[in-house]
Amino acid sequence: MIAIGCDHGGYALKQEIIAHLEERGLEYKDYGCYSEESVDYPVYGKAVAHAVASGECDKGILICGTGIGISITANKVKGIRASLCGDCFSAQATREHNDANIVALGARVTGPGLAIKIVDTFLDTPFSNDERHLRRINMIED
Ligand code: RB5
Repeated sequence: MIAIGCDHGGYALKQEIIAHLEERGLEYKDYGCYSEESVDYPVYGKAVAHAVASGECDKGILICGTGIGISITANKVKGIRASLCGDCFSAQATREHNDANIVALGARVTGPGLAIKIVDTFLDTPFSNDERHLRRINMIED
């Protein structure tokens, strides 16, 4: 199960990503927001982060205007490794090296075509399980 959330700045892109998840037959839970009316991104960043940290969802996708505010918020939740990605290389590397569990996108920065490729890369790339990467991830929580 994939948790997805956004603020008003990310709403339109979230709708495109949801349509893509549906095309792929992937299950998701939409944590809002549900329109382009102005809202506060921490509400949605926290909702998705808690869904992933609790194990209710396996991975998360967060979108705001820049992807910055919502990823900062998500990374405050213990166990969350949220990566703001604007390219597919980063999306692949953050899965392989950081075992990132949330990808964040900036809808005012990254166009929908690239954003969807970033989402696919994030969802389809497994963690490397390399000892050195595990050691470094464990050091984050220390
Ligand atoms: C909202 O205007 C904007 O500040 C928000 O979407 C995000 O970019 C914050 O980091």
